[in-house]
Amino acid sequence: MFFSLRKIATIIGLGIFLSSTGQEENLEKNMACLKCHENQTYSFYNEWTEFQEKRLMNPFYILNGQHFASSVHGSFKCTDCHSPDYEAYPHDAELKLEPLNTCLDCHGGDETYATYKFDQIGEEFEKSVHFSISGESFTCSKCHNQHYYMVTARKSTTVKEIVAYNNQMCLSCHEDGSKYQLLSEHASPQLSVVHDWLPNQELHFDHVRCIECHTEATDSFLVSHNVLPKGQAVKKCVQCHSSNTMLKASLYKYENIQAREDGGLSTIIANQSYIIGANQVPFLKTLSIIIFLCVVGGIAFHIVLRIIKS
Ligand code: HEC
Ligand code: HEC
Ligand code: HEC
Ligand code: HEC
Ligand code: HEC
Ligand code: HEC
Ligand code: HEC
Repeated sequence: MFFSLRKIATIIGLGIFLSSTGQEENLEKNMACLKCHENQTYSFYNEWTEFQEKRLMNPFYILNGQHFASSVHGSFKCTDCHSPDYEAYPHDAELKLEPLNTCLDCHGGDETYATYKFDQIGEEFEKSVHFSISGESFTCSKCHNQHYYMVTARKSTTVKEIVAYNNQMCLSCHEDGSKYQLLSEHASPQLSVVHDWLPNQELHFDHVRCIECHTEATDSFLVSHNVLPKGQAVKKCVQCHSSNTMLKASLYKYENIQAREDGGLSTIIANQSYIIGANQVPFLKTLSIIIFLCVVGGIAFHIVLRIIKS
């Protein structure tokens, strides 16, 4: 009951949001929050002491206003998601308990952004280890920071940028003990130890995404959301280091397919990476076979000549 009311309120709220004008106006309103929430210190008038006071801001409550403005929700007012009661300071203690919307509260059944397949992603996510272990407390926002999320895999032009952005979404928790502890009783396993079987680990983490090895690549989604149990992770080198590399179906599908079809040369350049065994250029391959045959032929000819001479 509570949730359905919340949903109705959200839809009405969104309607107002979408019909509301003036992004400038929103930015100005946000400055009222950001003047405190963007800085390490904030000041306010203390009505008890009747002094203007300056204090330290809780570091977890500091936002980067610029990152916020360039995110998918950059045109929002803070109070589109947070209660307007936050406009008063000190904030009402009850506000701590305010339930916040997750992606699907707003985007569930969202026709405008059907290409993103929000609902199907929701179903995929519910199959993942994260959801099986942590349940509802593992919200979409655990990976997608609602203040900063930017559509990268779909829009970026360089694989390296996609890899860095996507991996940061996992590392923000798997390399942050305190964030991890919000969801788990045991300590976060050290990734460098867990992956010690992988040579050049840093190089790999710069060039492939965690989800390459930890989810099943599917054609139906641009970004697969079903993180599998660790036992099912990719461990075989040849799955990437072969001409039939699985990266073609996942990471490299974002690239200009044209680039790959012109023989592969531009893929190597565009990728800024050379994967042993995977980047085979048909022309060079043929050329090397011809050279090899010529050398063998030359040696054979030479041997025949020497035999005849002796
Ligand atoms: C005068 C400075 C100031 C202003 C202005 C301000 N805040 Fe805050 N806000 C704080 C401080 C300090 C905290 C840390 C908790 C506390 O002291 O209440 C906080 C905490 C919060 C929290 C975290 C609450 C929790 O405990 O989980 C949210 C969310 C928040 N503010 C949103 C807003 C929004 C939205 C606005 C603008 C409408 C705003 N704030 C304006 C100073 C401010
Ligand atoms: C699209 C919705 C959305 C908008 C817009 C938004 N927030 Fe938030 N905010 C959230 C959610 C969701 C959380 C809770 C994050 C969590 O629990 O993981 C949150 C948490 C916070 C917190 C607590 C610290 C934290 O990061 O968990 C503060 C402070 C805050 N928001 C301030 C702001 C301010 C200031 C603005 C405007 C510049 C703003 N928010 C705009 C959704 C939003
Ligand atoms: C409070 C409702 C609300 C919540 C919560 C919310 N969104 Fe949005 N989202 C919107 C609205 C409204 C827009 C359109 C913004 C605009 O046009 O400026 C939008 C835009 C987007 C876009 C941009 C689409 C495009 O092509 O421009 C993406 C992607 C997106 N949201 C993903 C998410 C994800 C992922 C989450 C959860 C972390 C989330 N949203 C949470 C309401 C919401
Ligand atoms: C375990 C981490 C994780 C969780 C949890 C998660 N996502 Fe994602 N999601 C990602 C990553 C990584 C990307 C790729 C980001 C990028 O480059 O745009 C992504 C991308 C997306 C996109 C953009 C896809 C596209 O086609 O461009 C949408 C929409 C989305 N997620 C929705 C959701 C929703 C809804 C939930 C909750 C049901 C959710 N995500 C939960 C990691 C996660
Ligand atoms: C080349 C493939 C590959 C890549 C890339 C990769 N992993 Fe793994 N990961 C594995 C395999 C295989 C295992 C299982 C190892 C084992 O059981 O010996 C694993 C295990 C894990 C575990 C389980 C730890 C435990 O023991 O509980 C976590 C968490 C994890 N990886 C996170 C990540 C994150 C985060 C990234 C991205 C920074 C990442 N992985 C990148 C293949 C990979
Ligand atoms: C907000 C924190 C958080 C984020 C973000 C996150 N994880 Fe996790 N992940 C966890 C926790 C907590 C567990 C362990 C649950 C347990 O075993 O108690 C886990 C477990 C795992 C496991 C091991 C599953 C098993 O079989 O034990 C893998 C693999 C993994 N995560 C990969 C990823 C990948 C890939 C991403 C990014 C797409 C990611 N995680 C993002 C918190 C996170
Ligand atoms: C998920 C795909 C993937 C898997 C699985 C994988 N690799 Fe890689 N590997 C890559 C990519 C992409 C690069 C390219 C890095 C670059 O641009 O130099 C790379 C680079 C390397 C390099 C470095 C080459 C150099 O230029 O120095 C070595 C060595 C290597 N891999 C060995 C392995 C071994 C051994 C395994 C199995 C234990 C393995 N890789 C598994 C994707 C993978």
